[in-house]
Amino acid sequence: MEKMFDYNIMLIGFMGTGKSTIAAYLSDTFAMEVVEMDEIIARREGMSISKIFEVYGEEYFRDAETNLLIEMQARDNVVISCGGGVPMRERNVEEMHKNGKVVLLTARPETVLDRLKDDHSRPLLENHKNVDYIQDLMEKRRPKYEAAADIIISTDGKSAAEICEEMIQKLKDK
Ligand code: S3P
Repeated sequence: MEKMFDYNIMLIGFMGTGKSTIAAYLSDTFAMEVVEMDEIIARREGMSISKIFEVYGEEYFRDAETNLLIEMQARDNVVISCGGGVPMRERNVEEMHKNGKVVLLTARPETVLDRLKDDHSRPLLENHKNVDYIQDLMEKRRPKYEAAADIIISTDGKSAAEICEEMIQKLKDK
């Protein structure tokens, strides 16, 4: 199959905005390779993200994210599902743009809560599963997410197919 893109697609956005779902859809539809940053880091460290935070602290995890982004610059046509905190570091945003187009997925706090209410793999939301907390953190992060993005797609009430179609159209128009 021909390559869809001669660059990487970097999916960014708050936890629960659908990055992994869209990555899987792109992989199924266009045979693109997917890199799930959280999954790779957890596999390499031999422990869950929650455990990495607990044992080594958040900075250690953030450094692992930066290193993985740099590693991915040697690749193309890969869809990279970035952990929600990746664009908070300016260095990461620079690295992402070197060989990627950055796609920001957004969702309302209510949608995020609904998607993650039974999840226990996000240390930053553990014990904070309420709309106010999510909204507050989302608002704090919003300027950095928006500044990092080449294109922005709101995901509320849309199917994966609709989101991907919108994404491909917007990337073409860029
Ligand atoms: C984080 C998001 C998580 C994971 C870690 C920290 C964040 O990834 O990297 O729990 O800071 O927003 P997802 O966005 O895939 O949930």
